[in-house]
Amino acid sequence: MSNPPAGIVVLISGRGSNLKSIIEAVHGKELDAKILAVISNRGDAGGLDFAREAGIPVEVIEDTQFPSRQDFDDRLIEAIDRYQPKLVVLAGFMRILGDAFVRHFLGRLINIHPALLPQFPGLHTHKRVLESGVERHGVTVHFVTPEVDSGPVIIQRSVPVLADDTVESLAARVLELEHAIYPVAIQWFVEGRLTIQDGEVLLDGEKSPQQAP
Ligand code: GRF
Repeated sequence: MSNPPAGIVVLISGRGSNLKSIIEAVHGKELDAKILAVISNRGDAGGLDFAREAGIPVEVIEDTQFPSRQDFDDRLIEAIDRYQPKLVVLAGFMRILGDAFVRHFLGRLINIHPALLPQFPGLHTHKRVLESGVERHGVTVHFVTPEVDSGPVIIQRSVPVLADDTVESLAARVLELEHAIYPVAIQWFVEGRLTIQDGEVLLDGEKSPQQAP
C-alpha cells in the first residue's frame, strides 16, 4: 500500500456502474487509491448517488450551460485541477473532450470503451458487433489521446459472441468484464507499473498490455 494513496478523479455521465466497481475495489483494498471527487456533466446521472453514498465529493458541471466546448473543457480542467489528482478516470463520460483538455492531462487520463479497439470505436458497439458477425467482443481500457476511442491500450478482455446473443445479453457480459478490469488498470497506473513506449503500453517494462493477473 502506498501512503498516502494516489488521488483519482472520476468523470461520469450516467448510470455509473463502473464508478461503483471502482468504489468497491477501493473499499475492498484491491485498489490503493482515493477517489477525490466524482464529476458529472449531467445532474441526473444515476452514478452520482454511488459517490454520495460513499461520502465522495460530487460536482455537476452541466455542459449545456456553456457557450462552447472549449468553455466547458476549461471549466472542467479547472475543477479537476483543484483536486490535483494523479489520474483522471473517464467512466462512461459521454462528452468528447477537446485537444487542449486531452493534452493537459496527457498520460494521466484513461477511458474504458466497450469494444476491442481499434475495432468498433464510437457508440452502439454491442449492436454493431452483433450485426458484423465477429466471433469475439470485449472491452478496452486505454490512455486517452486526442482522437476519439484511440490511444495506447492498457488492457483488453474478451468474451465469445454467442449465436443467441441479444444486444442486452452481450452488453451484460461485456459489462462484467468492464467491472473486473477497470480497477485492475487503475491499480497498475497508481503503482507506477505502466509506461508508454512508441505508442504502446508496457506493464513492468514488458510488452504485455492485455494480460491481467
Ligand atoms: C460503459 O459501457 C463504458 O464502457 C462506456 O460507457 C458505459 C458506462 O456505463 N464508456 P456505466 O455508467 O459505468 O454504468
